[in-house]
Parts: sequence; C-alpha cells; structure tokens
Amino acid sequence: MTTGVERVPTGAATAPAFDAERVRADFPLLGRSMRGKSLVYLDNAATSQKPRHVIDAIHRFYETLNANVHRGVYQLSEEATTAYEWGRAMVARYLNAPSPAEVVFVRGATEGINLVASAFGRSRLEAGDEVLVTAMEHHSNIVPWQLVCEERGAKLRVLPMDTRGALVLDHLPGLLTKRTKIVAVVHVSNSLGTINDVQTIITAAHERGIPVLVDGAQAAPHGPVDVQALDCDFYAVSGHKMFGPTGIGALYGKRALLEALPPYQGGGEMIASVTFEKTTYAPLPMKFEAGTPNIEGAVGLGAAVDYLRGLDWTAVATHERDLLAYAESRLREIPGVRLIGTAPTKASVVSFVLEGVHPHDIGTIADQDGVAIRTGHHCTQPVMDFFGVPATARASFTFYNTRDDVDRLAASVWKARELFGA
Ligand code: ALA
Repeated sequence: MTTGVERVPTGAATAPAFDAERVRADFPLLGRSMRGKSLVYLDNAATSQKPRHVIDAIHRFYETLNANVHRGVYQLSEEATTAYEWGRAMVARYLNAPSPAEVVFVRGATEGINLVASAFGRSRLEAGDEVLVTAMEHHSNIVPWQLVCEERGAKLRVLPMDTRGALVLDHLPGLLTKRTKIVAVVHVSNSLGTINDVQTIITAAHERGIPVLVDGAQAAPHGPVDVQALDCDFYAVSGHKMFGPTGIGALYGKRALLEALPPYQGGGEMIASVTFEKTTYAPLPMKFEAGTPNIEGAVGLGAAVDYLRGLDWTAVATHERDLLAYAESRLREIPGVRLIGTAPTKASVVSFVLEGVHPHDIGTIADQDGVAIRTGHHCTQPVMDFFGVPATARASFTFYNTRDDVDRLAASVWKARELFGA
C-alpha cells in the first residue's frame, strides 16, 4: 500500500505509458457525443464518470438483492447486508484502514467532515480553543468548523499558502498552540491541484497531541490511500469522485476517537437499546449510521473500488503526470493565459484565467466544442480572493483522459481568446 497521490508530482512530459483508450471503453458515457462532437470530459474533480462495473453492480443489486440491511432474519436481508458490508470492506482496503469498523458510510466527504466537526466540536471545543484549517480548503472544510466554532466560542485559524498555491509549512509550528484542538487539512486542492504534505502536518500536530482530519475527496480518485502510513485521525472521501455513485462517501476514523465521540445523528440502526430514560448506542460503525443507509451507494462504491484495484497505479501516475505537464505547456502557449496553482507537487488539475475573457465565456466556448470544464470559484472563494480572481476555468484530468482531450481544450481556449480576448 502507498499513499497514492504522493506519486503524482509535477514533472516533465514523458511518453504516455498507460492505455487510456482501453480503459475508456469501460466508461459508457465517454462514448457519447456532445454538440455534434465527441465528448471531452474534463470535470473529473467535480464528479467522475462511472465504469460499467459500477453501473452493473447497482443494477444487479436492485434486480437480485434489494432489502433493508441489518434488520431482517430472512435470507434476502442477509444477502443485502453482506453486499453492503462488502462495500465497506472494499473501502477499508482502499484506504488501508485497520478494520471496516473504522469506516463510516456518509453521504460524501462533506458529510464526513460535518460529522467530525459536529461530534468532535460539540464534545471537545471550549471557548477560546482553536481549530486550524488551511488557506486552500474547500468550503466544506471551512463552514462546518465555522459553525461549531461560533457555537462553542472557538476560533478558526488559517495556515497560509504562497503565490504558487503551496502551504507555508514554516508557519505551522506557530499556529499549533496550546489551544489548538484539531487540524483539518485538504490532501489535494480541488481548485489548485496542490498535493499537500499532509504527513508533515500530521507529525507536527501529533507531537503536540492534536488530532488531524484529512479531506481526501480529491486525493482518493488518484490512487489508493494509506491512512495507517499517514497516521491521520480522520480521512473523508466522496464516492462519486472516485468513480462510484453520488450520495455515498466514507469517513475513516481511528477506533479510539470514534468510540469516544458522541453520535452525530440519532435514529434507528445506531442504537443498542432505547428507553425513554436512556439510550445506549450500537458499536462502530453503526453508531454513526442512523436510519436506513444508502445501500445501493455502498454496493456501487464497493464496485468502484473493485474496479480501481484492477488498475496499474504506477502507470496511472505516469499518465496523469504526462497529462498535467502537457496541459500546462499547451495552455502556457496561449498569450494571456495565467495558471492559478503552480505548486511543485500537483495532481492533474489545471486552473487558469485568460486575460480579458471571463472564465464562464471560456467554459461556454469549450462546451460548444463538446469540452466539459468547470468554471467559477470551485467552492473555494478564499482561494479566488487570494489570487485576486473572481473565478477560474478548471480542467481536471483522470486516467481515462488523453492528450487529444488536452488538444481539444487548448483549441477552445485559443478560440475564446480570438472571440473575446483583448
Ligand atoms: N468540489 C467539487 C469541485 O471541485 C464539486 O468541482
């Protein structure tokens, strides 16, 4: 097991070593046309496309296995429960969690972070305490902490980044104070592509007895993660960004912490016994899974992990590194393009602006060419403020993208420049 994304640094262009064309055949949607052209899908950081393996698993679940889980003594319910727990076991293996009990199914990374902010914040934060986040967090790793800080009278503090979009780790020791109760840091930035050295942050925090939550939503799609090697306390992922369905994600938490925290939500499934006087809670992970869960989502996410485990991740890393370097060089050829996010270690995400052209206009021109990119603030308004731009255009690549996709994007940006540029 490796930490996965650490193997995707920025580097010089090399010949692609990965058969993206063969893999593309596994993704039915990639075969469709868009505005009379073949679709070029470059919005993988927003959501990924799904392999047939996942689509079939969900279909098969409803045709052959559907029943509620953990409830019935009848065989169908037992089979549904087995399928649901298989999904959990697959996620645990992908994250290298010591046990599936430490993997809680949630709606996505956002809910995973909200779970920790709520359960940890309500039970551990007091007036004057501090929560440390970084300057490049997605809103989902800012707002939940702000909410609980406001409630508890605690303060949100921010580790800064530099003009490349790299965290200024020299400032870390000064920000880890006696009042710091938790650090919440993004592994890979969705709007900049920066791969953060979370290992260094975790080590520094642990030296002071401070737990660390890692937002892994943008890291897990780029390769298996090793939460034990990282020694993080919590790690949140979203299923739909890692080629699984929407509405399902997972939160890894160290057993001792999860056991010590109060439940996030109350309801069925999460109890051991209920009386009007007192309720006791189910063991992990059910304590954090109130109500009927997203069973098809867990099955679909398990299938996604099953699919991902069949990939050669060394070859994927080489391929994604090539796409990143090629995309950056093709965009840099265009006068007026400014890349936003040039950290030394990056995943295959390219954010950019074009002088005199609003990013939405770039997105519209690209769409007319059948190229799907995201434009806007990418749910990272503080990042946009830092770089002094209202929005960026963002192309986010994954293993099924090709250099041809990059060429189609570059052609659209040239066209936007001709039509709208200064
Ligand atoms: N957070 C997702 C993105 O970066 C939606 O596009």
